Amino acid sequence: MTVKPDDKVIDAGESGVSRLEKLRGSRIVVTGGAGLVGSRLTALLRGVDAEVTVLDRMDAYPDSIHELFGAPRRASRLVVGDIRDRTLVRSVLEGADHVVHAAAFADVAACTRRPDIAFKANVEGTEVILEEAVRAEVRRLVLVSSAAVYGNGADPAAGPQRFHEDQTPYPLSVYANSKLWAEHQTRLLLGGTGTEYAILRYFSVYGDPQIPKPGSHSWMVAWLAMHARVGLPMRLNGGGVQVRDLVHVDDIAMATALALVEEGVVGETVNVGSGVPTSVRDVGELIAPHYPGSEFIITPRPADDPLGGFAETARLAELMRWRPGITVAEGVERYVRWLNATPEAVPSWLTEQVA
Ligand SMILES: NC(=O)c1ccc[n+]([C@@H]2O[C@H](COP(=O)([O-])OP(=O)(O)OC[C@H]3O[C@@H](n4cnc5c(N)ncnc54)[C@H](O)[C@@H]3O)[C@@H](O)[C@H]2O)c1
Repeated sequence: MTVKPDDKVIDAGESGVSRLEKLRGSRIVVTGGAGLVGSRLTALLRGVDAEVTVLDRMDAYPDSIHELFGAPRRASRLVVGDIRDRTLVRSVLEGADHVVHAAAFADVAACTRRPDIAFKANVEGTEVILEEAVRAEVRRLVLVSSAAVYGNGADPAAGPQRFHEDQTPYPLSVYANSKLWAEHQTRLLLGGTGTEYAILRYFSVYGDPQIPKPGSHSWMVAWLAMHARVGLPMRLNGGGVQVRDLVHVDDIAMATALALVEEGVVGETVNVGSGVPTSVRDVGELIAPHYPGSEFIITPRPADDPLGGFAETARLAELMRWRPGITVAEGVERYVRWLNATPEAVPSWLTEQVA
């Protein structure tokens, strides 16, 4: 436990778990529950004896990676299917108490390459989930959104900034635009209904067993560590000056679970970040000592890669009575340890580049 200057007691990291007791026996649907975040959340919810149904297409990763995530084993029930399939969604949501809507075409660069898929998953799919959640009289829905909605902020010339939930969003990518639409639609369709909602803007999620997707430039801890591990240079787009607010996946899972039980978050939009800025180069420099001889290479910064920023966390602390507890140094160390113990996690498309 840490004590804020105003003497308000705030949980740090995993200590929020006692408040999740309320979820014991609850029926919770996690869309995208087979992904990185969803699988960690599912494990956390199962740990407090909630009944968790995962709805996921199961095609974002190869089977071997799903094995590492462990989601199929962890869920009470795994339903393989698309969130756009209304009949399926209706049957999955029947009798559900809560929904965490985390399914998305969740990679910025992939959404830029395939805006049609982004639209189907992040817009059409979200529409089905929202409509069906109201129809099923779900008690609360947590929408997973992203700090990508802030883009470079109101004044890009000012460089990386602290992002506050009430500032005007400037989505720079197809991905960010689809997330912003989902936020608005959640407020419009769920506001005033019997289904409460909370919108969480995750900052940059990292932690084992995150595995980069081909052609992605997100997920820098995994991306840089895997390059260094196989002996490839760590690529710093635009010199690595971009700033991210890195939040460990264990903290993300806890924040998301707390959003299902905390009353203060109802109808609110909340940043889930640490409030600490970390540049891409900083991350590379934390990784480099683990792989002697590792090198950096500077490449141009893609247009959809924002200069970034970090979270204003006052609302998170106030409404959730909680803040992330895992520091970047600790989280990167954990990731590297896991990677060294799990060399099979490095995707073949990456090892092939070494040859
Ligand atoms: N990882 C991050 O840094 C980050 C940051 C901000 C927000 N988010 C959001 O968090 C959520 C989870 O992200 P993640 O990192 O776990 O990504 P992920 O790709 O590991 O998981 C997303 C899951 O959604 C599933 N999915 C995608 N489209 C679907 C569809 N049409 N029907 C059913 N399932 C579908 C995928 O199969 C995948 O298992 C996403 O909404 C993402 O946009 C992630």
